Amino acid sequence: MKRQLAAGVILCLSLYLHAAAQANPVFTNTLLPEPAKLTSSEGRLPWSSSFSVSTPHFHDERLDAAIQRTLQALEDKTGTPLSKEVRTDATAATLVIDVQGAGQAIQSLDEDESYSLNITTTGARIQATTVVGAMRGLETFQQLLQTEPTGYFLPAVQIEDTPRFRWRGLMIDCGRHFEPVEVIKHTLDGMAAVKLNVFHWHLTEDQGFRIESKLFPRLTGMGSDGLFYTQDQAREIVAYARARGIRVVPEFDMPGHTKSWFVGYPDLASAPGPYTIRREFGIEDAAMDPTRDSTYKFIDGFIGEMAQIFPDPYMHIGGDESDGVQWKANPRIQEFMRTHSLQDAAALQAYFNQHLLKILQKHNKHMVGWDEVLNPALPKDVVIQSWRGAKSLSDAAKQGYQGILSQPYYLDGMKSAAEHYLADPLPFSSDLTPEQRSFILGGEICMWGEHLNERSIDSRIWPRSAAIAERFWSPEGVNNIDDMYRRLAAESIRLEALGLTHLSHQDAALRELAGTEDIDALRTFASVLEPVSFSDRYEQQHTSQLTPLDNLVDAVRPDPPSRHNIERLTHQFLQAPAADEQARADLEAAFKEWIVAAPAINAQLASTPLLAVAQSRGSQLPQLATAGLEALNYLSQGTKAPAGWKQRTLALIAAAKNPQTLVRFTFLPSLEELVNAVPD
Ligand code: ACM
Repeated sequence: MKRQLAAGVILCLSLYLHAAAQANPVFTNTLLPEPAKLTSSEGRLPWSSSFSVSTPHFHDERLDAAIQRTLQALEDKTGTPLSKEVRTDATAATLVIDVQGAGQAIQSLDEDESYSLNITTTGARIQATTVVGAMRGLETFQQLLQTEPTGYFLPAVQIEDTPRFRWRGLMIDCGRHFEPVEVIKHTLDGMAAVKLNVFHWHLTEDQGFRIESKLFPRLTGMGSDGLFYTQDQAREIVAYARARGIRVVPEFDMPGHTKSWFVGYPDLASAPGPYTIRREFGIEDAAMDPTRDSTYKFIDGFIGEMAQIFPDPYMHIGGDESDGVQWKANPRIQEFMRTHSLQDAAALQAYFNQHLLKILQKHNKHMVGWDEVLNPALPKDVVIQSWRGAKSLSDAAKQGYQGILSQPYYLDGMKSAAEHYLADPLPFSSDLTPEQRSFILGGEICMWGEHLNERSIDSRIWPRSAAIAERFWSPEGVNNIDDMYRRLAAESIRLEALGLTHLSHQDAALRELAGTEDIDALRTFASVLEPVSFSDRYEQQHTSQLTPLDNLVDAVRPDPPSRHNIERLTHQFLQAPAADEQARADLEAAFKEWIVAAPAINAQLASTPLLAVAQSRGSQLPQLATAGLEALNYLSQGTKAPAGWKQRTLALIAAAKNPQTLVRFTFLPSLEELVNAVPD
């Protein structure tokens, strides 16, 4: 165990040195997202139990609650008891929160979220036009707290902050797998911490109808397996989100992805029932019948009911992946298309959307839809959520539609935080005109639910979403990957303090898999593994809603620190293989740690069926590590590899990329770079 710790410490130490080199002597910046404008000076505001807060200008219940949450978090973090009294007069306080007013009664795209934060050696001041802006400032304030051996302090800084994009969302699909209310609340806490402002709640799917309708009780009565949110719970979520400056945009996906609706209401469908809840994933042929008045009457009733629960000006109608198969097979629908001159399924869907739009307008809602709703038949106030590529977003903007980018932010692709981070909703290089650029509202992270359960969801969302949140909030030029990962590591710990379990989940799941607390070796193994992408897993495992999600792949987390650490050390080493002793030593320590742990890892993998699926990975690990050590030797000594070594080693790496075990090694691209750099 000591040896395993040693390598971890070395990796951490080099991260720490990296941070220290960038920081001024009193301020290590771990802010995430990075503010629009920040200057820091030498002074500091010491932390003590006399810390006090005042709201001399304006306060309301929402601001008061946000202040209490902040005080509690700071007290927990520092172990310093704090007075919870907030003064509203002009008496001096350590933190003065100067707010002009409450902000919008129903938060819209135009809510003013900006704030300034000024910390001097004697006190701090947050100034904001709205309570939402002040809450953003309070999050920054908490992130600024610095720790040193003798106590805590706040650095002297001047911050002027405002978001780059107005729409900074996270979508969660609760249709494929239901997520309990507490999970949603924790997620909202995490979103608030990193200044995301839209919770897009995907509530209906082929696999489950998750929101109570009193008008149509068979929707959840027959289409949810009893797993749904009551209207009171949905209102509770909306209020919880609003308390944190987060809008809730519900999605009711139509006309496809609707099989769960048809279990209780088969007449909505384009072919006769009966229907059952779909358990498989993928695209479903069943779709609503757009030709019948009764369909629109039903939707009108349902949307009217939902409009009472969800006050946001926007409602998402889905619109994705409607394959038209049922429409083609139904002679009555085909005849309807001929008489209405509707050429194809896309035209019929546009016809359907025009009717939906009228219903939404009647209930004072703007329409949001996935790419497929983009059609000249629809007016320009429809917002397009682009999931098939950035091109559809710019096409929409060129046609005058507002849009949100999601395609690069699909968390189930199991990409690195860096890859998501570098994808910009509106890159400087975009060919859009200034007017067209103004149509890009922002971006949304998508957390699809096929392979999620309430235990693993946090580890799929966090901390990667925090990096994306920075992309949506901070200036485009804030894009240094090393610095992002340094700050992300700090934010990840802060997020866990909110009750999220993205870090703790792995150990708990490994203990459960191994049936023992003795998981040191498995932990080393898991530290260099991550889940394969959604599609790789789906293809290997043919997952459905009924597949138990209790495998090693469900335990490990995407983009663990090892990936970036090994990559950074590899690049550092390759710059001067003969001279860089430090990077070489750090890489060697990591490779040796894996070799040392291998026998214990393999013994544990052989001990139980759910771990045995990864046995091939267990035997590959020491072989790959040995190849890494060999590459380091050849490179640092400047010698050629023996004949056949490179070919053999690259074949070993290629075999280790096979997605069969559902988990993949994090370091293979770096190892491949090392091996390819060896002269032969
Ligand atoms: C989608 O991923 N079908 C929106």
